[in-house]
Amino acid sequence: MKASAPGKIILFGEHAVVYNRPALAVPVTQVSVDVEVCDSTGIWIHAPVIDLHAELSTLPPDHPIGSVILKLFQHLHIAQPPTMEINISSTIPVASGLGSGAAVSVALVRALSSFLSHPLENNQVNELVFETEKLHHGTPSGIDNTVITYAMPVYFIKGQPIETFKPGKPFTIVIGDTGIPAPTKESVGDVRRLWLRDSVYYEDIFDEIAQLALIARRSIESGKPELLGELMDQNHAFLQQLTVSSPELDRLVDAARNAGALGAKLSGGGRGGNMIALVEQASAESVAEALMSAGAVRTIITEVS
Ligand code: PMV
Repeated sequence: MKASAPGKIILFGEHAVVYNRPALAVPVTQVSVDVEVCDSTGIWIHAPVIDLHAELSTLPPDHPIGSVILKLFQHLHIAQPPTMEINISSTIPVASGLGSGAAVSVALVRALSSFLSHPLENNQVNELVFETEKLHHGTPSGIDNTVITYAMPVYFIKGQPIETFKPGKPFTIVIGDTGIPAPTKESVGDVRRLWLRDSVYYEDIFDEIAQLALIARRSIESGKPELLGELMDQNHAFLQQLTVSSPELDRLVDAARNAGALGAKLSGGGRGGNMIALVEQASAESVAEALMSAGAVRTIITEVS
C-alpha cells in the first residue's frame, strides 16, 4: 500500500495565524514524502533520510513517527496490529519550514490506514495528524497539516471550517532556503512575549497582516497574482516588526527583489528557514541564481496552479 504527501509553503499570515487571523498556504509538489507499507514479520520502520531502521516497540512513546503509528492504531481500535514493514522516503528538507514532519504523518496515516483496510477521509487524516503535531510543536495553528492533507491552496483560520481555493491564473514562486534551522516554537514563543507586553500594538500588526492575507486571496482567485508582490513586501515588513526575520532572511529577500522579483518575504516561523519570492516565470531561474549567490543553500521553483 502506497501514499504520498507534498511539501507546503506559507504565502501570507504566519504568526498572525496563531492569533486567529487568516493565513494562506499552498502545497509544494516539487518535494514529497512517500510511504509504502507491506507484509513482513514484526512491525519494522525504515526511514533512510533520518537513518531510522527500527522495530516499533523499540521506539520511545514520544517518537514523532512511532507516535503517529500508535495514535492511528488507537483511533482504529486495533489492539493487535498485524505485522508489517513501513518504508518512508522523502525529498522534503527536514526542519526548513516546508512541512516535512506533517507530510510524513499525512502519508503515513494514509498508507497505514489503507493497509489496515480502514482508509480514512481527508478530514479524519487532518484531525489525526493535527493531534500528533500538537505533541511535538506545542501550540501549532494547524495550517501545515491542513494544506498538506488537502494538497490545495488553503485560506486558513484556526478552528474554522477549512477553505480551499483555486487560483484564477497560475503564478510562480521561488523558495530560498537560508539553511539555518528554524525552531518555530522559539519564534512563536518570542512573539507571544512581545504580545503579552503590549497586546494593543501587536494586535494592530496582526490585523494589518490579516488584511494582506484577505487581499492576497482575492488577487489570487481573480487571476491577478502580480498584485501579490507588493503585499509580500508589506507582510515581510510586519514580520520584521515581530522580530522574526534575520540578517540572512533579509539578505535573501533583498537579493530576490534586486534580481527582478515582484516581491519577497520570509515564510514560516522565521529567524532561519525559508523565504519566498513572487516572480515572472521567465525570471525564475535568474532570481534563483541570485538567491544562491546571496547565500541560499537551496532553491525550489514552484508553480501555484
Ligand atoms: O515554520 P513553519 O513553516 O512550520 O510555519 C510556522 C507558522 C507559524 O504561524 C509561525 C506557526 C503556526 O503554528 O502556524
